[in-house]
Amino acid sequence: MKLKKELIPIFPINLGWYEYPDFEKDKEALIEAVRSQEKLQDRDIDSGLALRIKHNIKESHPDFLSKNSEEHPVLNNLSQFFFDSVWDIVKELTPPEYLPPQGSRINIPDCWYHITNDKGYHEFHQHAGYSWSGIFYLQTSECNEYNGVNNFYDTFRPKIARDVGAFWSNEDVASIEPKEGYLLIFPSWIYHSAFPYEGDEDRIVISFNALIEPAEFDLTEQKEE
Ligand SMILES: [Fe+2]
Repeated sequence: MKLKKELIPIFPINLGWYEYPDFEKDKEALIEAVRSQEKLQDRDIDSGLALRIKHNIKESHPDFLSKNSEEHPVLNNLSQFFFDSVWDIVKELTPPEYLPPQGSRINIPDCWYHITNDKGYHEFHQHAGYSWSGIFYLQTSECNEYNGVNNFYDTFRPKIARDVGAFWSNEDVASIEPKEGYLLIFPSWIYHSAFPYEGDEDRIVISFNALIEPAEFDLTEQKEE
């Protein structure tokens, strides 16, 4: 029987992978920017946020990008890459009726790094209050499916399937293996975690939160069209 059909994706969740252009050229300078700020830290979690769910991690204050861009111009490249990637995913994934109005801008108010080793990890959490968030994998070549992955959780559906036709819906964790030089963008509301990491070199990632704001908002200098 030939069937006429149409699929209706009612609750799709998409993450985006973006490759940093010329990563090998900028990698060392980006690491240097992180390390120079790390030397100024007087406590492991400089943001002072959510201390109970972060273990063996060094985290900068969320002003990492704006604070260090002048001294480390390579961060401007990273910032542009973040802005371009967020715009791309907004255009790609926002349903037409929800596209931001003309003149809207991206604001990245928070950007911070994590330096992890010695089985450090980051427990289950979400980034409430933002639309898109990103994790840029700066130094993660020793990560693998058992070491330093990011897990994303489906917290919506009850996991109660008992017949083989619905077993697939019991799947509630998606593991994303870090890939050096790549940016993972995800909806800020989705719960996620970073699994324990141990390696010869530290695992270094740079994360951010992004907002899409209409033009009439009072914008700070971080915002950009
Ligand atoms: Fe996070």
